[in-house]
Amino acid sequence: MSDPATAHETHEAREALIAAARAVRAHAHAPYSRFAVGAAVLDEQGRIHAGCNVENAAYPQGWCAETSALAALVAAGGKRVLAVAVCAVAAEPGTPVTPCGGCRQKIREFAADDCPIYVADAHTLVASFTLGQLLPCSFGPAHLERP
Ligand code: THU
Repeated sequence: MSDPATAHETHEAREALIAAARAVRAHAHAPYSRFAVGAAVLDEQGRIHAGCNVENAAYPQGWCAETSALAALVAAGGKRVLAVAVCAVAAEPGTPVTPCGGCRQKIREFAADDCPIYVADAHTLVASFTLGQLLPCSFGPAHLERP
């Protein structure tokens, strides 16, 4: 029997998450950078939530795909992020497009250090990381807990 804590780490679960990130990337609103990004997050109920980057004519008002996906998870009542997939195509083929620093911290709010972050391009998985690798020695909700 599969362990519920690691059930999401099957090949099929990973591929479904990447497929969701790849599909939503088609909806990116990125007329300024022309850099379309899709992201998908898996919640503690086994649900996938997806989002894309949304740019704005007032450039700093745009936001990242990971932020959109996290907002969808929260809006659907999700509490935890068990895995993340990001899909983008780097200028240099094969270079992993990892979440930006701000998004790493936003993911940290809902995810543990061992949360896998799969980085894919339009065709394949390019690299896998854990959140702890991308954001070591991080600050999180536990730092605010009072005894
Ligand atoms: N972007 C993301 O959506 N996620 C990242 O982790 C990196 C950057 C977006 C923001 C902006 O719309 C475009 O990519 C170029 O930076």
